[in-house]
Amino acid sequence: MDVARVEVYLDDQEKPFAILDKPPFVLELDPSTLAEGTHYIIAVVHYADGSVDHHEYVFEVRRKGPVFVGHIASAPVMSPIELKMVDSVELEAPAKPDLFKHAVLPLLLFLLLAGTALWLARVGEKPVPGGVLAAGGKVEVPAAPAAGGGAAAAGLADGKALYEKHCASCHLASGQGMPPTFPALAGNENLADHEMVVKTVLHGRPGTAMPPFGNQLSDEEVAAVVNYILNAWGNNYGTVDPEFVAKLR
Ligand code: HEC
Repeated sequence: MDVARVEVYLDDQEKPFAILDKPPFVLELDPSTLAEGTHYIIAVVHYADGSVDHHEYVFEVRRKGPVFVGHIASAPVMSPIELKMVDSVELEAPAKPDLFKHAVLPLLLFLLLAGTALWLARVGEKPVPGGVLAAGGKVEVPAAPAAGGGAAAAGLADGKALYEKHCASCHLASGQGMPPTFPALAGNENLADHEMVVKTVLHGRPGTAMPPFGNQLSDEEVAAVVNYILNAWGNNYGTVDPEFVAKLR
């Protein structure tokens, strides 16, 4: 169903903290604008037909030296919005100039480079999110979100090999499948339902040719192959992690 608008509320605030009114519904949060501790976000989703529902995210903000780190503790399985945490660096004058020169500056440079590389990699994969909204005015370094980023990129590599080994015989290396018997995975909107996808891979589809892989593949491997199909061939259906797979075993 078409999403018309998403209102995002932070903690107990009465006024929306952000309103996203066009896709992609991506909210980027800068943890340095928030106090350390646990926070939550309620995304109130207004659909084109007038119906409304809401999704809750819980996340934590911690401070590691000059860097604020946001960690998403729980997110809805299916939500039309994507919450991203940027690692942000506090730009106050540090106590010791030496420390700044020897520790903070290289870290800043590193974050900047890593962030830029990641950002470039992502821009290559999908259109730059138009609706990106930063929560604060501070300088943001778009670094890898704790759970996604590097891990997902690494997962993508062996995910592809796993796919070619276990899945391509039916769904084809191009993801086109051989409909109607072997469904295409490229451009398949059912893949937005991560629970369905992971369960299908773990348990197969009894009564069809789709075999179960739960006994052959570890949680990491299932996550890797699923992340591959969620993002290969122009797909852009998010990612899953091994913990999520473990829960559905
Ligand atoms: C022997 C053939 C075969 C192999 C190998 C196979 N699949 Fe499937 N897959 C199928 C069939 C057939 C279906 C459709 C089942 C149905 O009709 O419900 C399916 C369905 C799916 C679906 C659900 C698609 C939808 O729209 O509901 C996913 C996701 C999927 N497969 C992923 C995989 C992955 C990932 C692998 C490898 C780890 C894999 N499949 C290996 C035959 C196969």
